[in-house]
Amino acid sequence: MVVSASPSSARAAGSLEAAGQSERSPFARLTELLAPYQPGEKLINLSVGEPQHALPGFVGEVLARHIADFGRYPMAKGIAPFREAAAAWLMRRFALPRTPDPDSEILVLNGSREGLFLAAVAAARYVGPRSGTPAILLPNPFYPAYAAGTRAAGCEAVFLPTTRANGFLPDLDSLDAATLARTVAIFVASPANPQGSVATTAYYVKLKQLADRYGFLILSDECYSEIYTREAPRSALQAAGDDFRNVAVFQSLSKRSNLPGLRVGFVAGDANFLQAYHELRNVAAPQVPVPLQHVAVAAYADETHVEENRRLYRLKFDLADQILGSRYGYQRPAGGFCLWLDVAAFGGDEAATVKLFRDGGVRVIPGSYLARSQPDGSNPGAGYIRVAMVQDSETTAEALHRLVRVLA
Ligand SMILES: Cc1ncc(COP(=O)(O)O)c(C=O)c1O
Repeated sequence: MVVSASPSSARAAGSLEAAGQSERSPFARLTELLAPYQPGEKLINLSVGEPQHALPGFVGEVLARHIADFGRYPMAKGIAPFREAAAAWLMRRFALPRTPDPDSEILVLNGSREGLFLAAVAAARYVGPRSGTPAILLPNPFYPAYAAGTRAAGCEAVFLPTTRANGFLPDLDSLDAATLARTVAIFVASPANPQGSVATTAYYVKLKQLADRYGFLILSDECYSEIYTREAPRSALQAAGDDFRNVAVFQSLSKRSNLPGLRVGFVAGDANFLQAYHELRNVAAPQVPVPLQHVAVAAYADETHVEENRRLYRLKFDLADQILGSRYGYQRPAGGFCLWLDVAAFGGDEAATVKLFRDGGVRVIPGSYLARSQPDGSNPGAGYIRVAMVQDSETTAEALHRLVRVLA
């Protein structure tokens, strides 16, 4: 059933979110914070999670081979070879109960960002009326597209604090029946950005039971799944049964294959939801150029470049282990490529960010910019900085040495 929020309820939903600065891009806020200062040393930018490792070697050749396809409008759902490659990769990587059907259970995305945003809008229409104000649950801190999508969907954003105390994953036991009964969808991210925490299969099983019982969707952001230290992170699809009901997972080549500019990802999961989502995408989503989908086919067929990528990140975490030790509450995260450092003792996250930039030329982002205030006024990101280890090893080591010197 299609339900669209009335403008007044959308306005009400918007007003339920914290007003002011928090609506804005964390990076726009960071630019403003640092505008009055000059970097004290040659700038090292560790604020944006844009991978700087080399592109896979095959990109140019595949693009050249398919150049004529720039003369065609791409279909919203993606070319069959791409959907087949994505389905086969999911099966190989996660040993699912069965291979997702490329025709009904996979759609190409123009990177996972737009996919996550539009999924919230599609979810509100697909799930239909709830018992109470429709809500979307979000981890807090969170990737900004989740909140933007929630707002566009006319739903109330319910922020679930992810803190050291709960292992940096939303505490499912804290959710009361009234909230679950009005839930349209929950966003989960594993590995999580910014903390790098990873959900276990048991976590996904519990979440799936709640989703089935209360009839909401799990929107599982798994774009960091290939960047991990020891064990390969699990997928929500592994706990989604044989029909993947109520589960949609989001993947991307941006982090896995160092192709953030390619803008290719995919969604996989519940065929009924994907049908509704595709109808919206067919009129509203950015399509993915066909030659780029062919590059993605080659990328999903190759794991060598992914292993090399993981090796490079592991080397940088080895450096962080050595240089940071246990300072700032540092613990090597299970996944992702960010450090989430407690700098409360250095005047708070904004003050530490300014000091690092002004005295050390290192640009990071305050944790509070990646989060919203909870109803009790606390901000679960406050007191932390996020350091994205996207530069090469030498530059990263230099930045971490400066960090330890400046925040001493
Ligand atoms: C947690 C998370 N999800 C999704 C994205 C979107 O990535 P892309 O649109 O490049 O696939 C990012 C990008 O930084 C991210 O950190």
